[in-house]
Amino acid sequence: MQLSGLGSYVIIGNPKAIQEIFTQDSKFDIGCGNKLAESLIGRNSIMLMDGYRHQRERKLLMPPFHGEKLQAYAEQICLITKQIASQWQFGESFVVRSVMQKISLEVIVQIVFGLSEGERYEQIKPLLTSWVDMTDSPLRSSMLFLPFLQQDRGKWTPWGRMKQRQRYLHQLLQAEIEEKRAMNNQGQFDVLSLMMTARDENGQAMTDEELKDELLTILFAGHETTATTLAWAFYQIHQNSHVLKQLQQEFNSLGENPQPMKIAQLPYLTAVCYETLRMYPVLPGLFPRISKSAINIGGYQFDAHTTFMLSIYLLHYREDLYPNPQEFKPERFLERQYSASEYIPFGGGSRRCLGYALALLEMKLVLATVLSNYQLALVDNKPIRVQRRGFTLAPEGGVKMVRCESNNCESD
Ligand code: HEM
Repeated sequence: MQLSGLGSYVIIGNPKAIQEIFTQDSKFDIGCGNKLAESLIGRNSIMLMDGYRHQRERKLLMPPFHGEKLQAYAEQICLITKQIASQWQFGESFVVRSVMQKISLEVIVQIVFGLSEGERYEQIKPLLTSWVDMTDSPLRSSMLFLPFLQQDRGKWTPWGRMKQRQRYLHQLLQAEIEEKRAMNNQGQFDVLSLMMTARDENGQAMTDEELKDELLTILFAGHETTATTLAWAFYQIHQNSHVLKQLQQEFNSLGENPQPMKIAQLPYLTAVCYETLRMYPVLPGLFPRISKSAINIGGYQFDAHTTFMLSIYLLHYREDLYPNPQEFKPERFLERQYSASEYIPFGGGSRRCLGYALALLEMKLVLATVLSNYQLALVDNKPIRVQRRGFTLAPEGGVKMVRCESNNCESD
């Protein structure tokens, strides 16, 4: 397939071919295909790296996002959700995606950057919001795709404004890094502190430039993706009252004030999150894979430098894997186990999403905290269409909901 200005692509939605690509990762360049994002996240971002540099960076960045470290973040995610949801008034409508974006931004600022109060915290939040909002509309994000719009004329051009914010953000992050270093990172469990103490096999730490670029990468990759998926989950759960009922039964089975990690293990809640990620991939495809030399995939021979686009959509809507794919049916994930090349919301191989465990934990804890404490309904029951928002695909209008008293909350 030929896409204007971007060269030719081979689009793949077949699980066997996807598996062949995942298991031959070293035969592809991947980071160089993300060059478009460089002006936003910086050239030291893991997303732009390949080969040894990429492997090293993953080893350094991985530990804070997995295992017991995640447990330490769980309480904080519940607290952030309670605090933001407590502002909902009866009868007042709100846009779910915006609220979820507030929650996921707060999660990143507190858990990743390690900031929860003080002057720097107050300065960084609005700055991050306006920085990420830059990619929120097709018009604004066109700047990223069209180099002639990338004119830095200070505050007089949109690009100049974005660059100004970015420089200021870098200054604030540098100040935070220096403060943490001066305090020797004592008693700190946020992701930035853990990144600063990580060492590679030669005993080398990440440079300050790497730290800052990776912080913005995590924000860029983790903020909108999680918020948008949560908005779709609220939409489907309230479109399907039996799903809501079953979730509430599962939450009740844990009794009063359950431990967050017990919530994260609930099977039906997990299936609801998986089904949401199946039906609504936030990214239509994975990072492009560019073959380094001639290669055989799916029984076909391809030249060197062929670009392969692995389509999450094509795969997740295959009738043979997901019967009635247009139907929201969490049970399919309880009835069957899908392999790593049949279900790919977080990609795969050596590029699998670094934050997938944090994203899933956040989704489950936000859903459980909100649905066990609040009665919500969709403002209207019309089907919601998918709309492009910069790099991502999101629900048109963001999903409008209203908080209501339990006895007049019929959403179906
Ligand atoms: C629902 C939420 C999320 C979805 C659907 C998602 C999806 C993805 C996908 C599809 C990829 C590309 C993988 C590939 O090409 O094989 C990716 C990469 C990545 N994601 Fe996520 N992501 C989510 C949340 C997060 C979060 C919360 C973080 C960070 C805390 C994060 C950090 C990253 C990074 C750093 C990469 C690049 C990995 C690399 O190049 O090695 N993502 N994600």
